[in-house]
Amino acid sequence: MIQLIDLTKRYRNLKAVDRINLTVKKGARFGFLGPNGAGKTTTIKMMAGVLRPTEGRIIINGYDLAASPSAVKECIGFIPDRPFMYEKLTGLEFLHFVVGLYGLDHTPLLKNRMEDLLTLFELRHWEDELIESYSHGMKQRLVMCAALVHEPRVLIVDEPMVGLDPKGARLVKDIFRDQARNGTTLFMSTHSLEMAEEVCEEIAIIQAGRIIARGSAEELRKQAGMDGKLEDVFLRLTQEKGIAGP
Ligand SMILES: Nc1ncnc2c1ncn2[C@@H]1O[C@H](COP(=O)(O)OP(=O)(O)OP(=O)(O)O)[C@@H](O)[C@H]1O
Ligand SMILES: [Mg+2]
Repeated sequence: MIQLIDLTKRYRNLKAVDRINLTVKKGARFGFLGPNGAGKTTTIKMMAGVLRPTEGRIIINGYDLAASPSAVKECIGFIPDRPFMYEKLTGLEFLHFVVGLYGLDHTPLLKNRMEDLLTLFELRHWEDELIESYSHGMKQRLVMCAALVHEPRVLIVDEPMVGLDPKGARLVKDIFRDQARNGTTLFMSTHSLEMAEEVCEEIAIIQAGRIIARGSAEELRKQAGMDGKLEDVFLRLTQEKGIAGP
């Protein structure tokens, strides 16, 4: 479970995230939508523990992130929008490196787990190649393997679809749904409204640091007073609340 309580991030005069309150239940698939500059990445970085909130609290699986950062980091998998990888490592070496960070090097069945993930993400044939030789989409898939290798209970993902081909996108959607079926909580920002509607049972729209709408795709349609494409609903809802951005 994820709870954000009055979460705020201020950069000088700008409130990038402005008193957000959200609860995401265990095993839920939650989509975080909003225009460029709305505060999605800032929120996600705070949840992943890489950016300190100005105010407010983050509770993940019952642990307060400020008080117990290690306990939270153990149970989350984080896929950033611009991942960093050591490109002089092979795919498999990178997974070993990540496993080492979690202190899980000697876990039984670890080898099987890594092999299963590399197979699932269709990287098995590339595991001994240097990451620098991977295409963008392959790197993206390797980052997802790395985020799942310690079997996180909460998966936090910033724009997972960028750079994936249709097959890769389908694969990722299926994996996210499977993960949630197994009880993993998914918190995902995306600009792909199709992805949000297909994968997420609940969506929040953030604009200028504030949550302006929340609910299922159907509920958002009702809120916007219109049927049809989620894209039109999104544009109507974000227009009504004014222009986002700095
Ligand atoms: N390090 C920083 N210093 C100052 N301002 C920042 C910093 N990082 C982000 N911002 C500002 O905070 C606001 C929110 O940015 P953020 O990256 O969270 O938006 P986003 O919703 O992820 O946008 P996008 O859809 O483009 O990824 C923007 O106005 C941005 O310019
Ligand atoms: Mg962003």
